[in-house]
Parts: sequence; C-alpha cells; structure tokens
Amino acid sequence: MNNIFLSFFLALHVFCFAQEIQESALKEAAGFPVGSSIRFVPFMQDKELSHLQKHHFDSYTAGSDMKMYQIAPRENAYQWARVDSIVDYTKANNQRLFGHTLIWHSATPTWVVKKAKKNPEWLDTFMKTYIQKYVGRYKGIVDGWDVVNEGFNTRGSGYRKESIWYATMGEEYIEKAFRYAHEADPDAVLFYNDFNIERDTLKFNSMMKMVEDFQRRDVPISGIGFQMHIRMDIPNEVIAYTLQRAADTGLQIHLSEVDVIFNTHDDSKGGGIQLYNKLTDEMRLAQAKKYADLVQMYQEIVPKKQQYGITFWGFNDRDTWINRFFKLRDWPCIYDEELNPKPAFYGFLNALTVD
Ligand code: G3I
Repeated sequence: MNNIFLSFFLALHVFCFAQEIQESALKEAAGFPVGSSIRFVPFMQDKELSHLQKHHFDSYTAGSDMKMYQIAPRENAYQWARVDSIVDYTKANNQRLFGHTLIWHSATPTWVVKKAKKNPEWLDTFMKTYIQKYVGRYKGIVDGWDVVNEGFNTRGSGYRKESIWYATMGEEYIEKAFRYAHEADPDAVLFYNDFNIERDTLKFNSMMKMVEDFQRRDVPISGIGFQMHIRMDIPNEVIAYTLQRAADTGLQIHLSEVDVIFNTHDDSKGGGIQLYNKLTDEMRLAQAKKYADLVQMYQEIVPKKQQYGITFWGFNDRDTWINRFFKLRDWPCIYDEELNPKPAFYGFLNALTVD
C-alpha cells in the first residue's frame, strides 16, 4: 500500500469510526490481556487516568512500585503496603497483576550493592530470602513475574557483567532467581525480560542460548518478555524474525513495555537525538500503522496459547518515560498529551482480532 493511499485510508477510518469506537475498550477487543504500566501514586488518584486504566486494561504492571528499591529500601525493612494496595485495586477491578521486577541491576538498592561487595557470599542468601518472601507473600495473587530484567548487555552479545548480581554470583544468578521464584509459587508464570532483543540479533541470540539451555536443563522459565520500546525505523521483518524464534520455544511471549518512538537515542540516560520537533498528521498515521503492524505480528506469529499479552509502558504522551529519560520531546504512546486517543490507538484497536 503506498503512503498516500494508506494515509487516506487511516484518516477516513479514524474520521468515520472515532465516535463509535471512542468507548471501545482495548481489553474487550483483544484476544489476550492488555495492560499498561502505571504509578499507583499519584496516577490512581487522577480520575481521568484511573478511568482510562480501568476501561481499557485487564492487566496491571507497576512502573516502579514493585521494584527492589521500593520493597527493600533498607536492610530488614520490607515495605509491602504499596503492593498490598495495588493487590486490592487489581482484585476490585478484576485485573491481572504482573510483577515487575524481582532482580534488575538498575533497581538494586545501594545498601545491597555495598553489602555484596563486602560479603559476596551473602548475596545469594539475600536473593533467595528476598524472592521467596516476596513471591511467597503474593502466591496465587501475582500471576507472573519478570524474574530477571535486562541481564544482557545493552548492545551486542554477552551478559551484563557489571551488574552486581553477575559480578558477585556469575551467570548462575539468573538460573537461581528462577529456581527460587518457582519454589515460592510453582504456578506463577516466570519471565526473562529485556530490551532491544527485537532488533539486535546478537543480543537476541545470547538470550536465546540461555533460554534454550534453561529449557534443556529444566530451569523453570515460562516466558520471554520483549520490552519492545521500538522506534519507527525498526524493520518489521526483524521484529517478526525474533518473535518467531522466541515463539518456537513454546514459551509465553509478553510484549511487556510497548511504545513507538519517532526520535532516536543511544539507549543511555539523556542520550536522545531530537530529529522531529513536531508531530505531524503524517507521523500520526505512520505510527498508527506501526502499532497495527505490531499487533498483527503478535497475533499471527505467537500461537494463541502463548500470548501472555501486550503491555504499554505508560499509555499517554504526557507522562511517558521517554521524554524524561532521553531528554526528548516525543510522542510514543496511544493517547496524546491531553489524554485523547491518537490514530495509534485506533491502529492498535482495529488490528485486534478476537480469534
Ligand atoms: O516517586 C518519586 C517521587 O516521589 C520523586 O519526587 C521523584 C523525583 O525524582 O522520583 C520519583 O521516583 C521516580 C520513579 O520512577 C517514579 O516515577 C524515580 O526517581 C525514577 O528513577 C523512576 O524511574 C523509573 C525507572 O524505570 C527506574 O525504576 C521509570 O519511571 C520507569 O519508567 C522505568 O522503567 C523501566 C523498566 O522498569 C525496565 N525497562 C526500561 C524502563 C524505562 O527505563
């Protein structure tokens, strides 16, 4: 389809169906759970946001509230109150609660890093206690966990060796985390989650080598999380290739942190390159197509029984992490800065098929 025809088609579609579709809930149109990351405070006190969250999503991922620096900010001081409130909220609203994330180098509190450096043997004991207390407390309540997040290098092959977990325990820390989580809740769906694996085939291959080794040795992994912070210029063919190979493992596949960025960046904090200063209609429509392509690939490539769901990393351009983190002005989400649905929303919605 050429661009002019595509633009005309999408514009017509949005125009004709906007009224009718405005109230359509993504969770009802999708044949798999749909979610968004959210900050419990203050966003849940924002009436408009919480209305949209309840209306569209049947899966809840905490943006930060369930990370280690929140749960164990000091030694022997576990903080469960926020997670308990999230549990009440998700139960009251019939939403699946997804646990993000147990072990992530970037969410490891300083006191843990310091103590592990002084006493390396302690880290394994701490990991076991932490995971088993946490997963055990929410056994049967948290449906699935990102057990280990971002264990591979930002680019290219190989483990992220500077992580305190790798530096102290070696690559075995990943396997141990899965075993500890499985012991605490044998029914929880356990994911390895990472970014850029949909586009960087060296990184993807490193991850797949680990996943396939885990499967051979019965390490209890049940899913692969593709964060999927994609840019408009990431080729669909590469995304389809990696999704297919991941799906071939038979594991659950979660698109766990979806957004679609126009500008570019070097993956580091503050590393944004502002190529576009304004969101044009043409860009809106192109983004709608990218969201639609992503849904189509997910539905066509990942067998239904392996579709754990699609989760957006925030669903509106006002609150998106992309602008803060990369120091950019971008528009990566399905809702705009005024909390109105964008063509991206309709692109996503209209690509959903229930069977
Ligand atoms: O809640 C405090 C607030 O009280 C304080 O005033 C403010 C001042 O800095 O900070 C607030 O906490 C921030 C928190 O997000 C809540 O917004 C932290 O500083 C900030 O570091 C934290 O950043 C989060 C980051 O992970 C680190 O946990 C981002 O929101 C969140 O989007 C980001 O998410 C990660 C995924 O977990 C893994 N994949 C990449 C993704 C984006 O970096």
